[in-house]
Formats: sequence, structure tokens, C-alpha cells
Amino acid sequence: DNAITGTLARRLRLGMVGGGHGAYIGGIHRYAARLDGQYELVAGAFDVDPEKGKAFAAEVFIDSGRSYGDYQEMIEAERQRADRIDVVAICTPNHTHFPIAAAFLQAGFDVICEKPLTTTQEDAVKLVQIAGETGRFLGVTYTYSGYPLVHEARAMVAAGKIGKVRVVQVEYPLEWMATAIEQGGNQQASWRTDPKRSGRGGSIGDIGTHAYHLAGFVTGLKLESLCADLATFVGGRVLDDNAHVMLRYEGGARGLLWSSQVAIGSSNGIRLRVFGETGSLSWFQEEPNVLVHAPLNGHPVTIKRANAASGTGAQARTRTPPGHPEGYIEAFANLYGGFAEVIRAGREGRDPGPIGQAVPAGYDGLKGVAFVDAVVDSHEAGQMGWVKPAYV
Ligand code: NAI
Repeated sequence: DNAITGTLARRLRLGMVGGGHGAYIGGIHRYAARLDGQYELVAGAFDVDPEKGKAFAAEVFIDSGRSYGDYQEMIEAERQRADRIDVVAICTPNHTHFPIAAAFLQAGFDVICEKPLTTTQEDAVKLVQIAGETGRFLGVTYTYSGYPLVHEARAMVAAGKIGKVRVVQVEYPLEWMATAIEQGGNQQASWRTDPKRSGRGGSIGDIGTHAYHLAGFVTGLKLESLCADLATFVGGRVLDDNAHVMLRYEGGARGLLWSSQVAIGSSNGIRLRVFGETGSLSWFQEEPNVLVHAPLNGHPVTIKRANAASGTGAQARTRTPPGHPEGYIEAFANLYGGFAEVIRAGREGRDPGPIGQAVPAGYDGLKGVAFVDAVVDSHEAGQMGWVKPAYV
């Protein structure tokens, strides 16, 4: 059952790199992978420190023979096994995504990689190329595109429900780095503020890429050019902790994107508002079960998750009846559901079903990295000049 083609009538065997003790996102990946029973976590190199990684593996009941000191050892051992992993989730800091993802793809494994895809545009281009050449799947976890009502908003824009899009406002404000917590040893903040490990972007790479993806995902618009103003408010920091980016989309729509790690009082309050010629749509992740549609000269309508009128994309990502709240874990699980469907469909030589449609993949990751490059280029040009990213 390890053939590249043929039906996979079993759970996908998942491996993980990173996500050990004290790590943030790896745990969310594990919840997401469990929710629909599509995966079984069977192997991992969970920590940059091999001993800590093995100790963690034992706690999550990974067979000791499949708990590895590092990702190279994991690849070498797994590729020899008849029951080798199908797919690996890469939950490590940004600078390690490229070498780890490239090595797994080249060894014949499918990959689920965290964002931003890489720390340089050059590496992102190469990684997308490698995925293409090897024919392996490269998924990217742009979390917010997993929400059912984000799919509903996308379908509504595509169906012309708000007319031609004029204005896009998207923001991702956070409070947690409003002081120099990296100097106090905060694990997550310390690599995020280090250009060698984070890449050229601070807030813009970490959360601006989510906002950029969400705006493009819902509107279907392609960026034409951007103009950015970055700021670093906290002393001793090198990378931006606040970004304002003006966006010009092909076809004339205008946008404004704000990402901030110093927005006191805000916690993962990613918000999108899209204004068209005949109406607008508004979605806020702290209330992810509602989408507000305001038609021109009409009463605003609150669209609820799991409504019978929801489109296919939203319905495929809905588990509970209306009124029972779904949220972040379910959205993340929808990405995992989508990845599983794409992987299965690929092996079975068929088109993916609804949950496997519009799944964030390598090129979306590359666009995010190209966006960060363009933002920093624009800011460094210092003239508030307009710079076109090489990939949009
Ligand atoms: P973290 O610092 O909490 O965890 C990183 C983990 O990777 C640690 O367990 C560390 O030991 C391990 N690690 C580092 N180098 C390794 C290596 N070479 N081999 C094996 N393990 C290694 O970082 P966090 O916050 O979990 O972020 C990880 C990635 O996830 C980043 O790329 C970040 O941008 C992304 N992220 C994405 C989110 C989303 O919504 N999709 C949310 C939070 C983070």
C-alpha cells in the first residue's frame, strides 16, 4: 500500500518535525490531524535537541524505533520501511523549513509546511520547483483559509454578490510582543525577532502573510503592487513589529493591510472587510461563526455558519449544526482534511472532492514570501515607492 498510485484505504501515516515540549503550533497540528481520523501520528523528530525530542515522542506514545534525533535520520530510516510515513508536518522556525521540506520531498514524501514557507524568495521558488519535479504534495498551513465562512465569503465574491471589488481592508493585530519579551528568553519571540531565523519580515512575515493570503483568498484578486511603511517600536529589535501596507490589485481595487505585534488589547484578531460595487462582507476571527453581508441600500444580513444556504466549500468544512460554535481547531482540521483529500486523490488519480479544493499549497507559500520581500523592499526604498513583487 506504499505505491505512489492506488487506493489508500487506511489512515495516512503522519510524521512531524518540531512541535515538541514548549513549542506552540505543533500541538495544534496534532489536534487538527486527529479530528477527522484521517491521520495517525507514527514518527517524529520533535525538537532541535535530540534528547528532548525523544523524551517528547515517548510522552505522545510514538514507538521508540520511530522517534528520531533529527530529520535526516528520520528520512533515512522511514524511506526503508514498508510502513513508512506518507506525509510529514514541518512545525519548526522559518529558517529550517526549506532544508527540511526539500529533503522530505526529494525522498518521496508529501509535505505539510508551516508559513512563511521559507525565509528567502529564492528558496521558496526552489521548493515549489522541487515539489513540481518530484510530483509530491506541498501544503502550506494558512490557517484562516480553513474556516467555513471564509470559504462562504470567497464563494459570494466569486458569485458577484457584492459586485466588483473596490476596497479590501485586512488587519492582524497582536499584543504579545509589545515589550521586549525576546530579551527575557521567550522561545517564540526570540527566533521571530532574529532575521537569520525569521527572514526579512517581523510582524509582516509572521502574521502579515496570513492577512495577505486571506485577502487574496476571499477576493480572488492578484496583487499589482504595494507600498509599505514598517516600524520597529520596541527597543533592541531589528525587524518590524508593525506594518502598514497599501495594496493595488489588478483591475483597480485598493487595499490596506495592517499587521502588528504591539497592538495592546488585541489577540489574534484577524479581520477582513471587502467592499464591492453593490455590497460588502466582513469577517472577524474572534467571531468566526458569523459573516456579515451588507447589500447596497439594504439591511446588513448576518450569515451564520452551517446555514442550509451555505455553499459547497463551506458545507464541506462544517461539522456541527448551527449555533454550536466551531473555531480555530476545526479550521486547522479543515486544512488537514483538505491535505488528506489532495494526497489521496493524487494517489488514486482523481480530482479532489470539495474539501480538497482551494487548499493552500506551495505557490501560495511562495506568494507570501514574495510579498514579504516586496514589503521590505518598498519600505527600504524609503520613498513610499510602489514595488511589484516578482510573484503575485
Ligand atoms: P516554537 O518555537 O514554539 O516551536 C518550534 C519547534 O521546532 C521547537 O519544538 C523546536 O525544538 C523545534 N525545532 C527547531 N529546529 C528544529 C529542527 N531542526 N529539527 C527538529 N525540530 C526543530 O515555534 P512556533 O511558534 O510553534 O512556530 C513554528 C512555525 O509555525 C513557524 O514557522 C511559525 O511561523 C509557524 N506558525 C504558524 C501558525 C499558523 O497559524 N499557521 C501559528 C504559529 C506559528
